Amino acid sequence: MKNGIGEILITEAAIKHKVSELAQRLTADYKHKGLTIIGVLNGSLIFLSDLIRHIPFPVRFDTIRANAYVGDSIFPKGEVDIINNISLNIKDDHVLIVDDILDTGKTLSSTIQAIKRHNPLSLKVCVLLSKAARREVEIVPDYCCFEIENKFVIGYGLDFDNKYRNLPYIAVLGECR
Ligand code: IMP
Ligand code: MG
Repeated sequence: MKNGIGEILITEAAIKHKVSELAQRLTADYKHKGLTIIGVLNGSLIFLSDLIRHIPFPVRFDTIRANAYVGDSIFPKGEVDIINNISLNIKDDHVLIVDDILDTGKTLSSTIQAIKRHNPLSLKVCVLLSKAARREVEIVPDYCCFEIENKFVIGYGLDFDNKYRNLPYIAVLGECR
């Protein structure tokens, strides 16, 4: 372990494979009806940019920023604020919210409520990672790439203290950081 990076849980190759599989599923599900993707900043950025480049039909996308860090970085608590809302008109669109990780579920549940106010035709949720053991709000993601154990992870968009987002793989946060 060095530089705060612990065990690699998901390799770059495994992520690439899953993202391409997910894009194929989304293509089958949305190709004929259209798709608008809403990425939750900042964590979804890397996942979102890789995913949309694997989708072979025109998609629209926008971003929303939610902030759950009223506690500290590893144990966020308190209310989730929507800091920057979307600017696209998504009324009558088929919308997919994309986030990095479904942890307690508080961020996604607030984001879902915020997006529903824009009256999309349909709304589904897609996450790169899910930690079912941590769930406090009942949300079952419609698309999930990897179910992981209850460990704090970094990389591929996920941060600790706003660092490590640029790692091309997912690792457990190490102790020497
Ligand atoms: P929630 O608990 O489901 O509301 O997740 C809140 C946010 O915490 C997620 O969108 C992530 O940005 C962040 N988060 C949760 N678990 C982890 C983790 O293991 N590593 C890095 N960020 C995390
Ligand atoms: Mg996030």
